[in-house]
Amino acid sequence: MNNLSFVNILDVKDDLKFKVRLWRNSKDVRDYMLDGHIITEEEHLQWLSSLKNNNRQKFWVVFFNETPIGSVYLHNINKQDLSSSWGFYIGEGSYRRKGLGKKMLFMLLQEFFENIHLETLKTIVYSSNSTALAIYKKFYFTEVETDEPDISMNLTELVFTISDWTKHKESLFNDYFCS
Ligand SMILES: CC(C)(COP(=O)(O)OP(=O)(O)OC[C@H]1O[C@@H](n2cnc3c(N)ncnc32)[C@H](O)[C@@H]1OP(=O)(O)O)[C@@H](O)C(=O)NCCC(=O)NCCS
Repeated sequence: MNNLSFVNILDVKDDLKFKVRLWRNSKDVRDYMLDGHIITEEEHLQWLSSLKNNNRQKFWVVFFNETPIGSVYLHNINKQDLSSSWGFYIGEGSYRRKGLGKKMLFMLLQEFFENIHLETLKTIVYSSNSTALAIYKKFYFTEVETDEPDISMNLTELVFTISDWTKHKESLFNDYFCS
């Protein structure tokens, strides 16, 4: 049974908007972000206002039933080549390792390919992030070969395209979403 929903961060109450900053700054999340600096309250407010009428970014708070548990976001949305980068985290530690990260990814893919109509989802993760890499492997993401020293040393770049979605969506639904 899937109890997850995505709500645009601009539509949630102010105290939850501020909780997102606390999640993002917590060590359990920040250590896995490529830009791991501590976000100040002022930066957070500026970023929230920059989301209004912003075609290049989308940011959702993820709810499990009525409880906000984490975030999913798209950034660098490119309407020319129909690509975007993405990221996700579960800010409430007690909700990790229960299969919800995979459900969040499935829902994001559905939104990405079938509602927003983009075609290539990209991500770059620390090569040490074994949980994220395990999830991407299960979801048939393809690792991008690169000669860029920064990426090949510590980071792994992956993509998932609309043809991957067409090929795998039914098995992904059955394996990771509907239980
Ligand atoms: C990434 C994240 C959202 C995953 O959410 P989650 O609910 O914990 O993930 P799930 O329970 O759906 O799946 C985790 C999978 O990783 C695998 N896994 C977990 N820890 C692992 C480890 N140390 N080594 C290898 N595989 C691991 C498990 O096998 C599990 O798959 P399974 O349930 O099919 O066996 C969560 O861990 C998180 O918020 N991490 C911090 C932020 C982050 O890393 N974000 C991603 C980069 S942007």
